[in-house]
Amino acid sequence: MINIGVIGYGYWGPNLVRNFAELEGANVAAVADLDPKKLEVVKRRYPSAKVTTRVQDLLEDPSIHAIAVATPVNTHYELGMAALRAGKHLWVEKPMTETIEQGNELVEEAQKRNLVLLVDHTFIYTGAVRKMHEIVKAGELGKMLYYDSVRVNLGLFQRDVNVISDLAVHDFAILDFLLGEHPVAVSASGINHFPGTPENLAFITLFYDSGLIAHCNVSWLAPVKVRQILVGGSKKMIVYDDLEPSEKLKIYDKGVSFTDDPAQIHEMRVGYRTGDMWAPKLDGTEALRVEGEHFVDCIRNGKTPESDGRFGVRVVELIEAATNSMRSRGETVYVRRDPNDRRQARMPRRRYDRGSPIPTAIRSK
Ligand SMILES: NC(=O)c1ccc[n+]([C@@H]2O[C@H](COP(=O)([O-])OP(=O)(O)OC[C@H]3O[C@@H](n4cnc5c(N)ncnc54)[C@H](O)[C@@H]3O)[C@@H](O)[C@H]2O)c1
Repeated sequence: MINIGVIGYGYWGPNLVRNFAELEGANVAAVADLDPKKLEVVKRRYPSAKVTTRVQDLLEDPSIHAIAVATPVNTHYELGMAALRAGKHLWVEKPMTETIEQGNELVEEAQKRNLVLLVDHTFIYTGAVRKMHEIVKAGELGKMLYYDSVRVNLGLFQRDVNVISDLAVHDFAILDFLLGEHPVAVSASGINHFPGTPENLAFITLFYDSGLIAHCNVSWLAPVKVRQILVGGSKKMIVYDDLEPSEKLKIYDKGVSFTDDPAQIHEMRVGYRTGDMWAPKLDGTEALRVEGEHFVDCIRNGKTPESDGRFGVRVVELIEAATNSMRSRGETVYVRRDPNDRRQARMPRRRYDRGSPIPTAIRSK
């Protein structure tokens, strides 16, 4: 039995506790929150779980094997490090940390102590994203051309993080999972319409060496909720609408082809192909359930989580790069080839020459 202690029972923590409580081979041993009222709710729902306002009680409890941190981002590093130093496996909410350096320190600490470190990027454990991954990996889309996401709604305005950290974080994780490729540069624009609050709207573009371009439109200021991603390949294209109750994923056998027939040199040499559309069957298991089972499996069998600490750091780097670009009015920010490589942290990042167009394949050597 893997005994799990959860820190933070605000908005997201209850989802973790509910899923961990239902997992075979796992047990919610204790929940810590600074707010005693939240702990009253835990006591009613899970009478066998210990509750405490002191995180230290969880760290000092030798029966607890793993700790899940579901508190605001600015506490992730400190609480995560304390959990690892106490010898506990760690589940930490997205985004992993505020900075790349903090994230890398958690990765090193977990490695040193041979502990599992999973960053909760829930989307990559959904049936829809896993099916997309399967399709992309099988090469069904052909050459990957673009990823275009709209993730907007009214609220929830956050006090401590901007909209990139709150919403685009999901796209950065999905992109990393689907492509297995890290972008080379990021450019973003955004604004805070309300003085003294974090940016509430942003448009982010990510450039990849392979020629793929990704765009994410994220906002807390939209009248309707939209969760739609288009993924375009040279052979097929995907439309993923997360708000669709069924048929979230639709695969379109559509594309274009260009002829290089010299006889047609003065004509538009493009052919449009429109074939069938199909909606694959998706695994409807709740993502947190899949992820929880994966976490327990990694602890039991010494496996590395799919969203491990290195994955988490790559996402943090993109949040940082996009935020820096947004705050310098869209200036292109080059990202490290391998954000987990500390030597690269000391290398000056190349700056984009504003006068020249961005080449299709930019390299940041
Ligand atoms: N994976 C996802 O899809 C997803 C979705 C929503 C939120 N999150 C993440 O979950 C985390 C928490 O977000 P939230 O919306 O639940 O926040 P929240 O503010 O609603 O809840 C945080 C809780 O942590 C408690 N807390 C804060 N500091 C503490 C400490 N030092 N010790 C004990 N308790 C402490 C607070 O009292 C509060 O109850 C964030 O990192 C957020 O990004 C992830």
